[in-house]
Amino acid sequence: MKLFDVYPLFDLNFTKAKGSYLWNDKNEKYLDLYGGHAVISIGHSHPTYVQKVTEQLQNIGFYSNSVKISIQEEVAQKLGKISGYDEYSLFMCNSGAEANENALKLASFHTKKKKNICFTNAFHGRTSAAVAATDNKSIIAPVNQTENFIFIPFNNTTALEEAFSNHEISSVIIEGIQGVGGVQIPDVAFLQKIRSLCDENEAVFICDEIQSGYGRTGKFFAHQYANVKADIITVAKGMGNGFPVGGVLIAPKFQAKHGLLGTTFGGNYLACAASLAVLETIENEKLMQKSSELGSYLFDQLKENHLIKEIRYQGLMFGIELKTPCTPFRNKLLSEFKILTGNASCPNTLRILPALNITKTELDLFVDAFKILSKSNDNL
Ligand SMILES: Cc1ncc(COP(=O)(O)O)c(C=O)c1O
Repeated sequence: MKLFDVYPLFDLNFTKAKGSYLWNDKNEKYLDLYGGHAVISIGHSHPTYVQKVTEQLQNIGFYSNSVKISIQEEVAQKLGKISGYDEYSLFMCNSGAEANENALKLASFHTKKKKNICFTNAFHGRTSAAVAATDNKSIIAPVNQTENFIFIPFNNTTALEEAFSNHEISSVIIEGIQGVGGVQIPDVAFLQKIRSLCDENEAVFICDEIQSGYGRTGKFFAHQYANVKADIITVAKGMGNGFPVGGVLIAPKFQAKHGLLGTTFGGNYLACAASLAVLETIENEKLMQKSSELGSYLFDQLKENHLIKEIRYQGLMFGIELKTPCTPFRNKLLSEFKILTGNASCPNTLRILPALNITKTELDLFVDAFKILSKSNDNL
């Protein structure tokens, strides 16, 4: 059997990773500024993470949600405390798409309505409702097509008001900061408008913090910069530092009922051990504060560069929009400087999503490479 060929791959075969570095099968060292799509939050093979997951595996790795899994409660308590959403409940699942799928479903169960507002450039995953809320026609199969998702322009308050006046809205789903869309930051006033319109119309405010959450932006959740609370928050990626885990944070007004949501693997012992290691490390190493400081540092180092049109960032979530397409630049960063970066749906934007405990020295390697490459821009 061969692999189903859906991924455009770099010719790299990593065999070892530590902190912000990866080594390939030729023992060449790479600096990771992308964390495999924002997944590596506390660094590769962090000692606390390795210890907690290993110890857990030696005791018990799996049983289903038909028994009491007390480590899930530990995750919920710690997550509630660190995120400022203490009074919410947690439903654990396995991925970002699954978290959004459950969020949209829960909203609809609660409101008994069907229509949802979503935004241009949004990415919420590849399963049925999540992909229907995603602004990319090429990944929506006929089976996923539905009239239940109304796309409106990002950050456009008038369009938002119109959508609410023309439809019975179950939920609004928005990323804390759009990731795949090129690090597009919602205006504070826009998030506040979503909050008030949801309240006035008995709709559910879902904030997808799958990429922008878990301390990446300097606060635990990006939407907390707008001083609003969402009714449902979805998380994944950085939550498990590579262990597949996702979660839905649910406001007290939602009524739980046995059988309403469910999953076989979600919230298993290993996923919980990984999640606890991440939360503990974010706290112990003050990673939210670090993310904020390092983000400002990186911005200062790059802001005068002539090749850059705009830098959109919050903490360590960066969209660096070049004046030229970013693919050749990204390829050179990889081939000449052994630095891994990401792209976005807008072709000129380089996405930088490092581990939150990356060092200044490591960021400087990128800054130096960026300067050299932008000087020789003509050769790109
Ligand atoms: C904001 C956002 N939501 C949802 C997802 C989907 O997550 P997953 O790939 O774990 O299903 C992603 C993945 O890139 C994402 O960036």
